Amino acid sequence: MVETLKWDGQALWVLDQTKLPFTVEYRRCNDSGSVAEAIRSMRVRGAPAIGVTAAFGMFLAARNALETGADLSGAIRNAAEELGKTRPTAVNLFWAIDRMRACSHSGMPKDVLSCMEKTADDIFREDIESCRAIGRHGASLLHDESTVLTHCNAGALATAGYGTALGVIRSAVAAGKKIRVYAGETRPYLQGSRLTVWELMADGIDTTLITDGMAAHFMAKGEIDAVLVGADRIAANGDTANKVGTLSVALAAAAFDIPFYVAAPVSTIDLKISDGSGIPIEERPAHEVTHITGHPVAAQNVKVRNPAFDVTPASHIRAIITDKGIARSPYGSALSRLVNG
Ligand code: MRU
Repeated sequence: MVETLKWDGQALWVLDQTKLPFTVEYRRCNDSGSVAEAIRSMRVRGAPAIGVTAAFGMFLAARNALETGADLSGAIRNAAEELGKTRPTAVNLFWAIDRMRACSHSGMPKDVLSCMEKTADDIFREDIESCRAIGRHGASLLHDESTVLTHCNAGALATAGYGTALGVIRSAVAAGKKIRVYAGETRPYLQGSRLTVWELMADGIDTTLITDGMAAHFMAKGEIDAVLVGADRIAANGDTANKVGTLSVALAAAAFDIPFYVAAPVSTIDLKISDGSGIPIEERPAHEVTHITGHPVAAQNVKVRNPAFDVTPASHIRAIITDKGIARSPYGSALSRLVNG
C-alpha cells in the first residue's frame, strides 16, 4: 500500500498529493516551516494525516532549536502556533499539537526531545492501528454484493495508512465481500478522482468514478446501498464536518433511506464543541474553484466562495464507526463513552 508519510529518523518525507495520480514524488521536510507549507498547500491532507504530519513538524522544530542553541520552549510555542494556523477544521491537527506540547514538561531539554520523538512515532503507529480497528468494526455494516458511495478521500492517503472510510471497505473486501465503490470526484480539489480512484484501483477494488452531481441520480435508480465518508471534526452531538459536498450526499441518502455512515478515529471527536455550528470551516483560495489543475474553467474575476468543508447533522448519520466501536444515536452519550471509556 502507498506510504503517505515516511520518517527516516532525520526528516519527514511527504508524498506530494498535489501531483497525484500522475507523479509519485516525495518532498523532504526537515523543519516545521516546510511541514506547515506541506499541510497548507495540501501536499498532505486528510484529518489524521495532517495530525501525524504536524506531530513531526513539532519534533523537527524542537530538534532544530536544540541543535542551534535556540530557546526550546519558544521554538515549541512558535511551531504550535504556525502549524495550528495551517488548516482550522481538522481537529486531529490540534489534538496532535497538544499531545506533542505535553512533552515540554518532561524535564531536561534532551528528555523533552526524546519524549517528542517517541510521541510523534506513537501518533504515526497508533493512526494505522486505529484505521485497522475502524475497518474491523465497520466491515459488518457493509453487505456482500453491495455498492458503496464515498466522497473525497478518506483512505490510506488521508491517514498514516489503510484509511478510515476506505479502511472499512478494505476490511469488508478482505473478509470476502464483493463491494463496488462509487467515488464522487469531489470538486473543487478532486480528491475523489485524483486520489480515491487511484488508491482503490491499486488495490484491485471495483471502482467507478462519478461527478458529485450524479450521486442523487444513482441513489434514485437504486444503485447505491450505503454511503461511507470520513470526518474532519465530529461535535459532541454527532454533527460531522467533512469535505464540502458531504452534506448534499447525506441529504440525498436521507431522501432515499440509504444508510449514511461516518468513519473516523476518536481523535476526530471534539467533545468541547457541542454541535456543528461551532466547528470552524476553512475557506480556501478562489483559484481552486476557477482553475482545474492550473487550467482556467471560469470567467476571469468572477466572485468565488470556497468553503472546504460542510457539516452534516447527526440526524442524517446512521452510525459513526470509530476505532473504539460503533456509535449510534443518541450520539451525545455514545460519543462521550467512546472518547472517555
Ligand atoms: O481537504 P482535505 O482533502 O484535507 O479533506 C479531507 C476530508 O474531508 C476527509 O474526508 C477527512 O479528512 C477524513 S480523512 C480520513
